[in-house]
Amino acid sequence: MVTPDRPIGIFDSGLGGLTVARAVIDLLPHEDIVYFGDTARCPYGPRPPEKVRSFALEITDLLVAEGVKLVVVACNSAESTAFYEATGRYEVPIVSVIEPGVRAAIAASRSGRIGLIGTEATIASGAYDRVVTATGADVVLESRACPRFVDFVEAGETASEAVLVAAEEYLGPLRESGVDTLILGCTHYPLLSGAIRYVMGEHVVLISSAEATASEVYARLLDLDLLKRDATEGRRRFITSGGEDRFGELGRRFLGPEFDGVEQRPWQLAADRRAAS
Ligand code: DGL
Repeated sequence: MVTPDRPIGIFDSGLGGLTVARAVIDLLPHEDIVYFGDTARCPYGPRPPEKVRSFALEITDLLVAEGVKLVVVACNSAESTAFYEATGRYEVPIVSVIEPGVRAAIAASRSGRIGLIGTEATIASGAYDRVVTATGADVVLESRACPRFVDFVEAGETASEAVLVAAEEYLGPLRESGVDTLILGCTHYPLLSGAIRYVMGEHVVLISSAEATASEVYARLLDLDLLKRDATEGRRRFITSGGEDRFGELGRRFLGPEFDGVEQRPWQLAADRRAAS
């Protein structure tokens, strides 16, 4: 039985989903959160869709086993494989990042020319194009993959010369194409928004799906009568499949004071536990 006192589960391939976790904490400070960052297998972007799909199912299973009441897929690359749609295997509601981001971009754009940046997996999947088409809005989407952006963030490099050079290379053509709105279609990218804004210029509206996704989490919990009832400060747990030290250091920097430690859960260990039980 899914009950209001359970935590919200959030996952990503690594640290990027902390941008979504931040927005969820800001909006719902009383909610407990379990965050899983699959740092050991990050980045997902260059991997084949079947692989990313199986990782996403494995993590969602893990969060459900942790007893979460709702899962936030804070990873565009995972969502773009549509991993949960056909399975029907989850009783808990699943909130994703693509649709809230598209809705926010359509609302913000005046010209109807919208840029989209994301990982190779997200762009190649055409997931954003499908969501845009389904809205029926009269907009044109100009897409571009930015493969190295995730590596920069995972290395804690958010404002270096190399980031700016890569941003110019990836975003120059989008700026020239005259988009007035740019969807940051990867949850790692808001952490590079200094360079992205510098290259795109002040007149282009940057859309991070984090806030729109957090609003969606609130709405879903409210509709399902699953908002936590007691008003004590929420407890947050952070789990990584990779190294604790790196995740701990960058987690604190990217999320802020609510990040107070990380548990390590290597996949090998999880497989051993399953085999032993
Ligand atoms: N942060 C993820 C996304 O939103 C994945 C990045 C990656 O692992 O390539 O797409």
